[in-house]
Amino acid sequence: MVYAAVLAGGSGLRMGGSLPKQFLSVAGKPVIIRSIEAFLRSGSVDRIFVAVSADFFDYTKELVAQYLGEADITVVVGGKNRNETLLNVLHGISDISDDDIILTHDAVRPFIDKRIIDENIIAAREYGACNTVVPAVDTILRSSDGRFIESVPVRSEIFHAQTPQSFGVKKLLSLYENLSNEEMETFTDSCSVFLSAGERVFLVTGDRNNIKLTYPEDMERAENIIKCKEAE
Ligand code: CTP
Repeated sequence: MVYAAVLAGGSGLRMGGSLPKQFLSVAGKPVIIRSIEAFLRSGSVDRIFVAVSADFFDYTKELVAQYLGEADITVVVGGKNRNETLLNVLHGISDISDDDIILTHDAVRPFIDKRIIDENIIAAREYGACNTVVPAVDTILRSSDGRFIESVPVRSEIFHAQTPQSFGVKKLLSLYENLSNEEMETFTDSCSVFLSAGERVFLVTGDRNNIKLTYPEDMERAENIIKCKEAE
């Protein structure tokens, strides 16, 4: 089975406003629905989970019914950090078999496409873990005190991490179940969990349009991306 976990349990503080950003509309449709639709449209995923905070559980079910009708989407309650949210999804999967794969995706990245989804599936099958990335455009500087530069990594070796991040379900679950509470808080993504366990993580080529909606100005960029896609 190929699973998708659309992670939408965040509060979107940097975006501001009362409604978390995954529920805001872009070109007339909520961001969370656009992300789910990308997986549905791909035809490559067997089962889709969406994880939201308890406050938005009923609301999400209503949105799914309104926009996606009969589509078989499982809504689960998220956790207090992204890792807990993902673990809740994993606990919703019964009868895990050795070749099951899960694509974990930020609900606030509505611009993934079939190519990215399919390449994630191939890479997760082949290597057990992969992360969607794009090459860094800017030179990245390292500074632990935020005052002076310590090092300048070679730009051609630096990538921006996007999602999906995709994994064998069995391995992902066993690594997550062994994390301490502190590790659940501090690991910002699942690939770090794999790396800290000595596992390899393959790079899948992402897309510069696969932006994460974070700040208010990103909403305008999202509208423009949709306009450009519609004009294609
Ligand atoms: N996420 C989640 N559960 C959490 C926290 C985050 O499912 N407890 C999800 C978000 O909904 C989002 C993705 O993880 O789709 C990336 O989160 P990010 O945008 O970095 O965090 P938010 O909490 O949503 O926003 P902010 O940091 O601005 O408050």
